[in-house]
Amino acid sequence: MGGFLNLQGKRTLITGGTQGAGAATVALFRELGATVLTTARSRTATLPAEMFVAADLTTVQGCQVVAGAVQDRLGGVDIIVHMLGGSSAPGGGFAALGEAEWQAELNLNLMPAVRLDRALLPGMVAQGSGVVIHVTSIQRLLPLPEATTGYAAAKAALSVYSKSLSKEVAPKGVRVLRVAPGWIETEASVRLAERLAEEAGTDTEGGKQIIMQALGGIPLGRPSTPAEIANLIAFLGSDRAGSITGTEYVIDGGTVPTA
Ligand SMILES: NC(=O)c1ccc[n+]([C@@H]2O[C@H](COP(=O)([O-])OP(=O)(O)OC[C@H]3O[C@@H](n4cnc5c(N)ncnc54)[C@H](OP(=O)(O)O)[C@@H]3O)[C@@H](O)[C@H]2O)c1
Repeated sequence: MGGFLNLQGKRTLITGGTQGAGAATVALFRELGATVLTTARSRTATLPAEMFVAADLTTVQGCQVVAGAVQDRLGGVDIIVHMLGGSSAPGGGFAALGEAEWQAELNLNLMPAVRLDRALLPGMVAQGSGVVIHVTSIQRLLPLPEATTGYAAAKAALSVYSKSLSKEVAPKGVRVLRVAPGWIETEASVRLAERLAEEAGTDTEGGKQIIMQALGGIPLGRPSTPAEIANLIAFLGSDRAGSITGTEYVIDGGTVPTA
């Protein structure tokens, strides 16, 4: 606290905050003085109960529970970080994606943000300030057809939704931004690297190389860390970024090959 970045007193909701980039963002926001409320389906032991609300955000009801907790416990909100996202779609290209898989992608990657914003933005507009950060993915620019067509399309929808929202509420004092990570070295992706390594008869480092090759290579030679994603989000959420709105920040070690 007291350094370059300060989030003192910022009432913050961070979704998907128990693992990966979400957990790193929760930790950094707390360190920088924010009052954080986070959510996932289940709490981890290290998170104090008073800063956690359990909900399945793929449902309308789960979003209502979280929006209610924001009002009850924080008395309003200054920063929302929509970290929740992911995919469990099967491989096999478009033919493997049926109605249920498509609906699941939209329910996890688009609708939680839409529903929570609909509930919480009026309060930000009324107070004349706020920041909303949607975490998308470089896959919205660089889709991988084997298993993530639905995920990439849902993230693209989230990105366009975010842009539209930013135009509407910027004149009312609310900034709306996107962060598009490339591969993040989360616990889950290390487990994936280990699985791929085992299948290919190599070590974890070899498994990481397989993931990087699938992405077309990472010029920096490594994934981002969860903490690096958190650093960008903390800056964008802070008053230091006061004139930044409506833009998408790629953080991918150079993975996206075009400008
Ligand atoms: N990891 C990557 O390489 C990568 C790359 C590009 C973009 N991204 C994006 O970055 C963001 C963070 O990804 P991550 O990999 O760091 O996440 P992660 O490690 O998979 O963590 C997911 C978090 O969301 C919660 N969650 C999952 N399903 C939920 C549900 N139905 N309702 C409420 N909470 C739920 C999880 O807790 P519970 O399981 O207890 O609910 C957990 O806290 C996502 O938007 C992702 O799409 C990730």
